[in-house]
Amino acid sequence: AWTMVNIAEESIDAVRARVGAKRAICALSGGVDSAVAAALVQRAIGDQLTCVFVDHGLLRKGEAEQVEKDFVAATGVNLHVVDAQERFLAALEGVTDPEAKRKIIGREFIEVFEEAARAIVGDSAEPVEFLVQGTLYPDVVESGGGTGAANIKSHHNVGGLPEDLRFTLVEPLRSLFKDEVRALGEQLGLPAEIVWRQPFPGPGLAIRIIGAVDRDRLEVLRDADAIAREELTRAGLDRDIWQFPVVLLADVRSVGVQGDGRTYGQPVVLRPVTSEDAMTADWARLPYEVLQKISTRITNEVREINRVVVDITSKPPGTIEWE
Ligand code: XMP
Repeated sequence: AWTMVNIAEESIDAVRARVGAKRAICALSGGVDSAVAAALVQRAIGDQLTCVFVDHGLLRKGEAEQVEKDFVAATGVNLHVVDAQERFLAALEGVTDPEAKRKIIGREFIEVFEEAARAIVGDSAEPVEFLVQGTLYPDVVESGGGTGAANIKSHHNVGGLPEDLRFTLVEPLRSLFKDEVRALGEQLGLPAEIVWRQPFPGPGLAIRIIGAVDRDRLEVLRDADAIAREELTRAGLDRDIWQFPVVLLADVRSVGVQGDGRTYGQPVVLRPVTSEDAMTADWARLPYEVLQKISTRITNEVREINRVVVDITSKPPGTIEWE
């Protein structure tokens, strides 16, 4: 039978045959795809693989730690962490346009990744010839069924690297769909928090803050987002919901009353959606009790937020993200 065990073993053998004694590097994004690809290649070639995790400070609460601790503990992978939070915040300062945010984050990511790759290439006796990417079958189809040319998603768009950093791509997930990648991740012993993570945009929380991004706003959104995620999981619904963006309307203020005082705080939008492939989506009919719990907790526990609203727009006409 064609089981996940077979798929895992065959893929591991194929990577080992392809890479041989050469070295490979991989950019971890915090998402499922790059994590599973890296874990699989690690099984195949062990220490010949070095992973790079660029911490841009735009991940959700606990996610950087999951990569730095849990993923490493589960795989034994060689991990090179770059703390680039200051750099990304400085580059994003005062920027409000969604596409400008994406461009800046993409550009900074490539620069930071290049620096890290140079350091790794420079310190190794064996040449680093391969770049591992978590490209899935739907990505291959979307990009025209290409030949494996460096055509990858915007968030770890490390295609277009300079001459001295040209790698051959290894894409062990190219024939798999998301659910198969999750099954493979479980087969490889990855933590459930990583395997079952919702798809998350590469620019991260930067495109869930409507307005300019700064440290305080990130902190507020991270806290609200963590509560929403926690309550969704507690209700046993996290695997039914495709994505659950929480969006901070950072420049909007509304009047509220808390305790015996008037407040003038910020709103967050809950955007739970169901979807098959993110091309279309429907707003998720979350139970009122779950919404109520999230609303009460966010307004009680996140001082800056005094109003919680729910987005009931399908895609189309709305997109999943607000930016
Ligand atoms: P929209 O908002 O267009 O999102 O309905 C569709 C899917 O794509 C994700 N998304 C992104 N992913 N970089 C990414 O890697 C981006 O700039 C980006 N923008 C949106 C979104 O989270 C959803 O899964």
